[in-house]
Amino acid sequence: MTIEAILNLDIGGPRINRHVYGHFAEHLGRCIYGGFYVGADSDIPNEGGIRLDVVDALRALGIPNLRWPGGCFADEYHWRDGIGPQDQRPVMVNTHWGGVEENNHFGTHEFMALCELLGAEPYISGNVGSGTVREMSDWVEYLTRDGDSPMARLRKANGRDQPWNVRFWGLGNEAWGCGGNMTAQHYAQEARRYGTYCRDYGDNKLYKIAAGANAEDYAWTETLMKQLGHLGCQHIRNTAYHALSLHYYTIPGTTWTNKGSATLFDTGEYYTTMAEAARIEQLIAGHAAVMDCYDPAKSVGLVLDEWGTWFDVEPGTNPGFLYQQNTLRDALVASLHFDVFHRHADRLVMANIAQTVNVLQAMILTDPDSKALVLTPTYHVFQMNQGHQDATSLRVDFRGELPSRPVGDATLTTVSVSASRKDGRLLVSLSNLDATDAADITIDLRGGAVRTVEALILTSQALQDHNTPQSPTAVVPRAHEGVSLSGGTLRVHLPAHSFVTVSGAL
Ligand code: AHR
Repeated sequence: MTIEAILNLDIGGPRINRHVYGHFAEHLGRCIYGGFYVGADSDIPNEGGIRLDVVDALRALGIPNLRWPGGCFADEYHWRDGIGPQDQRPVMVNTHWGGVEENNHFGTHEFMALCELLGAEPYISGNVGSGTVREMSDWVEYLTRDGDSPMARLRKANGRDQPWNVRFWGLGNEAWGCGGNMTAQHYAQEARRYGTYCRDYGDNKLYKIAAGANAEDYAWTETLMKQLGHLGCQHIRNTAYHALSLHYYTIPGTTWTNKGSATLFDTGEYYTTMAEAARIEQLIAGHAAVMDCYDPAKSVGLVLDEWGTWFDVEPGTNPGFLYQQNTLRDALVASLHFDVFHRHADRLVMANIAQTVNVLQAMILTDPDSKALVLTPTYHVFQMNQGHQDATSLRVDFRGELPSRPVGDATLTTVSVSASRKDGRLLVSLSNLDATDAADITIDLRGGAVRTVEALILTSQALQDHNTPQSPTAVVPRAHEGVSLSGGTLRVHLPAHSFVTVSGAL
């Protein structure tokens, strides 16, 4: 089947915020300890305990931001436990994730050093659930206040003279659940209160993000929008919060105890996964529509600060550690999400995949028994799509229907495309979700000339294929020959279950 599309190169849409390519690192399983942080005494090359091969791999993606310390962990984290000499820091129990002891060796200074090494902006989630307004307010002062003040003095005593820049600030996490089991009304008032005392010091301007809805809980979003006060009341927005979050995980199973295996799945389960992933379009559109009613100027941002696949843990691993392998299926879940993010660039200002290393849909898996590090198929999608960061989105229109297939009660469209332009280059991302059938697409390029094109493809023989320390390049991008440019027509061949990027000089 040949699909026909039209792409107007000269009609730019909103900018795709680079922060939709953001990441998330929680004190959970081996994400921080053994993932990002191995301790200064480790024989794995590190700087101040931070694993340098992980840093290099993420720098290569142009990682724009990193959310920390949770997740559920954020609402039981007390930042003062994580400063000062490491051997004097108190130990706590990580009640959410495996009941293991947390020695607090990775704290504020270590996280900020990690962000500096990565060249990424920090996104800190403060504790609303079990913390206090004062505790959160002090943390902002500790991090960002210059000059003489109690918290600035404490920071200096701990070895850091200059304040850091911290823009992204989360007011709790999942307040409807692990973040305090609050009602929307109660949390919205709490968010206004906590937000009020998170101050801007000097040039540091916080962008405060309220803990938003789970999946299709549109009422939660509406309550938070109402709490921002009457339209045009910029003062309340600036003191309370500037954005709302949203969480949505792709879970093919029917219950939490049977989410399905990350690697052992059949074609039916694959399509269920893709149909669940595709729901992100209607969810973002739905929450954006609610926000539009209260904020048609789109000044309040939507932040999808947890997304990705969630399968059963790998056999033999701690169920509380959420360690799962990552196959070509995960890569296609990611590529599909990014197309949706690009289409909703007018409202979606940030997104953070859960989670960067060793947890859920990870970019990087580190071997607990060796120094090996594996880049997952999902990593390669981030890499291939890097050119969309801060690019101008371009609309893609189709003639006729796109191929689709029924999946349960839903209909899964099996071809997904998005495009952008930046710095004289066009980037088109194309996913063919069909497990067995190839697709061909002809794109009529209008309003400009594309001089040359080159393409990369991420695919593999089986959807279940994945990378391991023994076979680290089983699923990696390769040059794609199935692309041609003639006059103003771009033709792309999409093999079954493949992700292709076409880059062209304008
Ligand atoms: O990412 C794992 C967990 O999922 C997070 O801690 C929580 O916010 C969500 O429920």
